[in-house]
Amino acid sequence: MRILTGIQPSGNLHLGNYFGSIKAMLEAQDKEDMFIFIADYHAMTSVQDGTKLYENKLKAAAAFLALGIDENKCTFWLQSDVKEVLELYWILSQFTPMGLLERAHSFKDKIAKGLNANHGLFSYPVLMAADILLFEPKLVPVGKDQVQHLEITRDIALKFNNEFGEVFSLPEALTDEFLAVVVGTDGAKMSKSYNNTIDLFTEEKTLKKQISAIITDSTPLEEPKEWQTCNVFALAKLFLDEAGQNELKTRYGRGGEGYGHFKMYLNELVLEYFKEAREKFQKLVNDEKKLKEILEFGAEKASKIAKEKMQTIYAKIGL
Ligand code: ADP
Ligand code: TRP
Repeated sequence: MRILTGIQPSGNLHLGNYFGSIKAMLEAQDKEDMFIFIADYHAMTSVQDGTKLYENKLKAAAAFLALGIDENKCTFWLQSDVKEVLELYWILSQFTPMGLLERAHSFKDKIAKGLNANHGLFSYPVLMAADILLFEPKLVPVGKDQVQHLEITRDIALKFNNEFGEVFSLPEALTDEFLAVVVGTDGAKMSKSYNNTIDLFTEEKTLKKQISAIITDSTPLEEPKEWQTCNVFALAKLFLDEAGQNELKTRYGRGGEGYGHFKMYLNELVLEYFKEAREKFQKLVNDEKKLKEILEFGAEKASKIAKEKMQTIYAKIGL
């Protein structure tokens, strides 16, 4: 089954991204026909600094590859390397009523947050529709904030199909609402917008700082502690099997250890779990040539499908 997802290259990846989304992608690439791209055109709506965008997209590619996205198991490319998507975006624009875009929550939220109300931001969902319809995935895994964009994609596809016959198959959104939310250092949902993240590829010193910032209660060192309500435990649990979790519960219940000890343990768990990925990331991020080779390899695979689909579309619309 074909599954497609786009990743905005913005900011550092954190434990929430890994356990909430990337881990499932890694598992899926062994079984499904995964299409994953770095959405650098979309990122332009929020980053207009060329050096920064360039750095961000390579960093994002290095991060996903370091975590185990395998260019031989899935199709992994940079959105701007397959230009057909922009052509389809224009074509689909002719089938996108203004009202459909005017109702988009994401546009309204971004304006409310102070982003420029320009055409790029307004037509963002049409580009997303092009990303999806060009490759005809059955499923598109998305966060709650993106569900409406999937509905818009389906509306545009239906409008086009009504005019020209069954050109586009309609994708389904695969939402993450059943996935457990990873808590941040303050106990709220971990998110780069809340400044409460524990980052995957940050320096050891910063990682230690982020972990020591986890909010805990003030039970004295010698007294038993409640693992049930502890943010450190909630995060450590992500790395532990049942036996490991039970052992940690016993340590909490026994007293004699402070939260500092548990944080140190969590720090070790994170470093151990991501050891290989962190090393691979450093290597890749400093090897632009290799990164570009991998991305070009993916773009070639994606281009082939895109070009073929465009032939059908040209024939229908008269281009
Ligand atoms: P952020 O909130 O940091 O901006 P994104 O919206 O870029 O994160 O997240 C990308 C994906 O990572 C989301 O669609 C979601 O599946 C997953 N994700 C992010 N944060 C969490 C979290 N705290 N818990 C579970 N999953 C998360
Ligand atoms: N808009 C998505 C986000 O912000 C990224 C994205 C762009 C995407 N094109 C896509 C996701 C196509 C799924 C399918 O997360």
